[in-house]
Amino acid sequence: VLPESVLQHARQDLWTHGDHGIGIVECSHRSAQFEEVIAGARARIHRLLGCAEDQEVLFLHGGARTQFFMMPMNLLRGGRAAYHNTGTWARGAIQDARRYGQVDVIYDSEKHGFNSVPRQEYALPCRASSVYLHYTSNNTVAGTEYHYRPQVPAGTWLACDMSSNFLSRPVDGSAYGFIYAGAQKNVGASGSTVVIVRKSLLEQCDDTMPAMLSYPAQALKGSMLNTPCTFSIYTIARVTEWLEELGGVAAIEQKNVAQATRIYDEIDRTDFWRGKVEEHCRSRMNITFTTGNPELDTTFWQSAAKEGMSGLKGHRSVGGIRASVYNAQTDQAIDALLDYMRHFQATYG
Ligand SMILES: Cc1ncc(COP(=O)(O)O)c(C=O)c1O
Repeated sequence: VLPESVLQHARQDLWTHGDHGIGIVECSHRSAQFEEVIAGARARIHRLLGCAEDQEVLFLHGGARTQFFMMPMNLLRGGRAAYHNTGTWARGAIQDARRYGQVDVIYDSEKHGFNSVPRQEYALPCRASSVYLHYTSNNTVAGTEYHYRPQVPAGTWLACDMSSNFLSRPVDGSAYGFIYAGAQKNVGASGSTVVIVRKSLLEQCDDTMPAMLSYPAQALKGSMLNTPCTFSIYTIARVTEWLEELGGVAAIEQKNVAQATRIYDEIDRTDFWRGKVEEHCRSRMNITFTTGNPELDTTFWQSAAKEGMSGLKGHRSVGGIRASVYNAQTDQAIDALLDYMRHFQATYG
């Protein structure tokens, strides 16, 4: 979901954007009209994440998946990197990184169906020679989330795929060397990937990369080496505006915690439902659960769809049920889901 006010704005701005007399997807990406939009999106992301002066916000193509290889391609250069294997997407990032250097998987929950991320107190350090440690702050498919920031030795950068909990909670952006997030979960329409990179890291990038795959080349051109995904960037500009008006990431975190807690409380209230992941790392964004009976799970999301609740089917690779509670999810939607869960449990329990 996107905030309703953003969708209303977008509807209007597709037709005529402000007093420009032309729609947002019709204007040139080189126009002052679009420059204002992209500059606003860039500045607000920088501010909302508490980034440092030397961190640059880019808007790139190819989804978060492109960052799985673009980051090691630019930064690893035959060196060593540490990864946490905590989910489908983390595994994809590891597979791609192996093409460009030595990968140490220092945490792996795959054997347990990715039901956990490392507990903070037991998180293993990575080798001091690692260029970076990569982790996925929210595992969209499994439904786990880090509620802390992993530590790295001096000289090792922290790199994070924040796609599915981006701007959903306060994060000290300045502690990271590299962040990326597909726009489509919390900050806008699909098409653009937010990448935050340190200027000092740009200097270490492989300079033999084709321009489109080179961070320094993209940064030099302000993410406009070629025509960017203008509508996606426009939605990011509007969503970040909405987020700041709401009170920023601290305010949205309160809302997210309250909504997730209500759903987890319902799961825990009876033996009918079972959460699918360890409690210390339950995600606030993707709440995965099951009745323990795959057929009953299917009945649940199929009949929920008839009640107007879409998207409750667990990811196709794992089955079960998944309620995604991104930033713009409304309390009314949570009320409806909880009503429906109680009704379903009373009928089939
Ligand atoms: C955490 C995470 N990383 C990466 C991806 C892949 O994103 P994209 O489709 O933008 O390539 C997803 C998609 O759901 C995701 O949730």
